[in-house]
Amino acid sequence: MRKKNVILENVPVSAYAAEGKALARIDGKVIFIEGGVVPGDVVDVRLGKNKKDWAEGKAIRFHSMAPNRVDPFCEHFGNCGGCKWQMLPYSLQLEYKQQQVADNLQRIGKLELPPMQPILGSRHTTHYRNKLEFTFSNKAYLPAEELNEDGSIPRKNALGFHVPKLFDKVLDINTCYLQAEPVNAIRNTIREYALANELSFYDIRAKEGWLRNLVIRICTTGEVMVNLVIHHEDKKAREALFEHLLATVPGITSVLYTINPKLNDTIFDLEPKVYFGKGYVEEKLEDFTFKIGPKSFFQTNTYQGEALYQVTREFAGLTGTEIVYDLYCGTGSIGIFVSRQAGKVVGIELIKEAIDDAIENAARNNVNNAQFFAGDVVDICNDAFFAQHGQPDVVITDPPRAGMHEKLVNKLLEIAAPRIVYVSCNPATQARDLALLDAMYSVKRIQPVDMFPHTHHIENVVLLEKRINH
Ligand SMILES: C[S@@+](CC[C@H](N)C(=O)[O-])C[C@H]1O[C@@H](n2cnc3c(N)ncnc32)[C@H](O)[C@@H]1O
Repeated sequence: MRKKNVILENVPVSAYAAEGKALARIDGKVIFIEGGVVPGDVVDVRLGKNKKDWAEGKAIRFHSMAPNRVDPFCEHFGNCGGCKWQMLPYSLQLEYKQQQVADNLQRIGKLELPPMQPILGSRHTTHYRNKLEFTFSNKAYLPAEELNEDGSIPRKNALGFHVPKLFDKVLDINTCYLQAEPVNAIRNTIREYALANELSFYDIRAKEGWLRNLVIRICTTGEVMVNLVIHHEDKKAREALFEHLLATVPGITSVLYTINPKLNDTIFDLEPKVYFGKGYVEEKLEDFTFKIGPKSFFQTNTYQGEALYQVTREFAGLTGTEIVYDLYCGTGSIGIFVSRQAGKVVGIELIKEAIDDAIENAARNNVNNAQFFAGDVVDICNDAFFAQHGQPDVVITDPPRAGMHEKLVNKLLEIAAPRIVYVSCNPATQARDLALLDAMYSVKRIQPVDMFPHTHHIENVVLLEKRINH
């Protein structure tokens, strides 16, 4: 079984593993299988990597399909890298996500767990994102059925999403179900205008071309912000394009542009300029409002963001007097959200601009008991800082996918706050950190939340309480 070019036949796909990889077990060996398979399918698999205990491969032939599959609703399914779980009914997606959390906490964390609360499904399973970034490219990726009869490409420019594993190819997107209208209308209007007026689409390899990226935000408040990223200034062409867009698509509240002559796509070191409107949007969570500029971070699923924060606030069990630390606070939204129930909130975040937003958002919401600090949590959380700002009664931590730095975990064990609420977008690293915290804390509640329907991504909130004997 360890030879090259091995094809396994009639493999029954049995489960999902981490990162949404489907798997089968054959004679105790785990086979990870790519190629859109789901548990219940029976497939032939061509193996790539093939080790003693595990292998990975791609499904090359389907013998039978799982009976509970459903028809994907999006025309771009299979070519686009997003919404890869559309072939699963939503209820089953939730079941697999719940299972992932349980598996991680039990296998990696080896933790004693209370019964898990059922995952909170998303109220909206389409049109749930408030932000998307589209890419212009002169290297369109076309599915086989759209190629000319001789295999050549009928069009070269595209505005849409990068194709997985083909970094310079972009799939033209006609309808995307991730954001509500007028987002499709905005993107398609810009593409049609650019094609009709022969505006140049960026060449990712040659690093030339005018139109680079299109970032659109749409809020539950109805505000819509468009940020067009161009390689260099061309005032006449830019203004003509924006005027056409505003005249064609109603409902846009802000139009910005960002000039990016750099080799990379990030705009965080650039200054977006406002062409129309106030240059930012406002989003609401309960009755809190948040200002979101073109570079601000905000939970991408507003509806579920609110649900996530409600769970976090409930787990924090605040009575109005507590000192709450909001670690990895981003633009301070969790801290602001819990501030009315807390005595005081201390937020810490690496990105200075996010802290500026947090301070502004706190003022906007008349939150007077929160302070925000920019810097690495590992550096900031030292004895002098805790002495100055107070020992925490509750620590809320929401680290990036990599989880918490071990030094921070050790500091939390030293500080020994009575409660920790751990919000995570990666149950594997969360389980690792919980195993370390197990030296002092027991897991009291677990609430997975689905922020991203039709993907394998999971958010999980865990309440830890200090054991009495500590
Ligand atoms: C998952 S986000 C949390 C966002 C925020 N809690 C919210 O709900 O909007 C993680 C945040 O951690 C920040 N971050 C990453 N490494 C950090 C570090 N070493 N120290 C402080 N913040 C860090 C990132 O910039 C990011 O804003």
